[in-house]
Amino acid sequence: MKGIVLAGGLGTRLFPLTKVTNKHLLPVYNRPMIYYPIQTLVDAGISEILVVTGGNNAGDFLRLLGNGKQFGLKHLDYTYQEGEDGIAAALALAEYFVDNDLVCVILGDNLYEKSVRESAEDFIKRGHGAKIHLKKVENPQRFGVPIISGERIMKIEEKPKAPKSDYAVTGLYMYDHTVFDIVGTLKPSGRGELEITDVNNAYIDRNDITYGIVDGWWSDAGTFDSLLRTNILVASQFESNSQEISQDAIRASASMLRQQ
Ligand code: DAU
Repeated sequence: MKGIVLAGGLGTRLFPLTKVTNKHLLPVYNRPMIYYPIQTLVDAGISEILVVTGGNNAGDFLRLLGNGKQFGLKHLDYTYQEGEDGIAAALALAEYFVDNDLVCVILGDNLYEKSVRESAEDFIKRGHGAKIHLKKVENPQRFGVPIISGERIMKIEEKPKAPKSDYAVTGLYMYDHTVFDIVGTLKPSGRGELEITDVNNAYIDRNDITYGIVDGWWSDAGTFDSLLRTNILVASQFESNSQEISQDAIRASASMLRQQ
């Protein structure tokens, strides 16, 4: 299975932090944000990875990541998204790279505490369709939200005002290569983007989608508050002897945030 990290877009919700750099290069505790989704793919056993980026700072990704040696990779591929016409539009740029293989897509601002290797292996065994990853959240209206009936997902609604479940569809998606046929049929949404939720709904219509529940914490880091939350959750995993900040205080905050 190939891996794609989507790191395009303007990051306008983090302006002015993103005025002179790309959101995915901002720090999350002691590493640039993009390190985490790459590591998630590598830990899932994926070694062929394409980074899709865009905007004015694309060259910085190459300077930062090079051939991916720091992740134990032999090489890392890159492509460039002109404009910011949506997550599914960014994914479309990966068609040449994925070819007839399966693909695991991760959003560049999504961090996962635990390994997703088991889920990836299950999807490889299944070998077709799509798999999404859900997490119970306090504020589902900020995300794609599934309507679930028994074991089945009936539909996903993107940022609904009145969410029909308290689950978010997190930014980790597994697809077979027919995903590119689906992307080719999409029309821009109300916000002018090709939506990943429309891709997932197409697999629901085909009755060819499964889901997993994310183990451990999951955090998106695309707003000021979620970036802060993510920093605290990550910091709580490191042992620090620093006198400047109480490790107990970080752990206590992280433990409260995990319950949200
Ligand atoms: O975080 C999970 C959520 O991500 C899902 O629950 C939603 O269904 C999904 O639509 C998405 O929502 P966001 O509004 O948070 O997506 P955002 O525009 O912040 O984009 C997330 C990442 O996708 C971003 O960090 C980089 C990548 N991206 C986004 C756009 C719009 C691109 O590579 N190109 C793009 O044009």
